Amino acid sequence: MGEGATITPYRDGPLIVRGDFRLVDQDGAEIDPGRKTVALCRCGKSGIKPFCDGTHKRSGFSAPSAPSRPRPAAAILHQAGRPAPD
Ligand code: FES
Repeated sequence: MGEGATITPYRDGPLIVRGDFRLVDQDGAEIDPGRKTVALCRCGKSGIKPFCDGTHKRSGFSAPSAPSRPRPAAAILHQAGRPAPD
């Protein structure tokens, strides 16, 4: 599987997926990404889901790139001095 994939949440935009990945629907059927790097919609407004079509810009979608706070389970484990599971 090579080096795996990198998924980057872009500020106010999509999830950019780079690297060695497979895109499948919830039934496991392959979705042809059509390219090696894809942008997946996270604003919910794209007309070509799961791909981004740029609508996030017109819809005023706003989200940070990094998490604004840790996931609840990770925060609880951190407070308990234990590492978060993979
Ligand atoms: S993130 Fe681009 S259309 Fe939704």
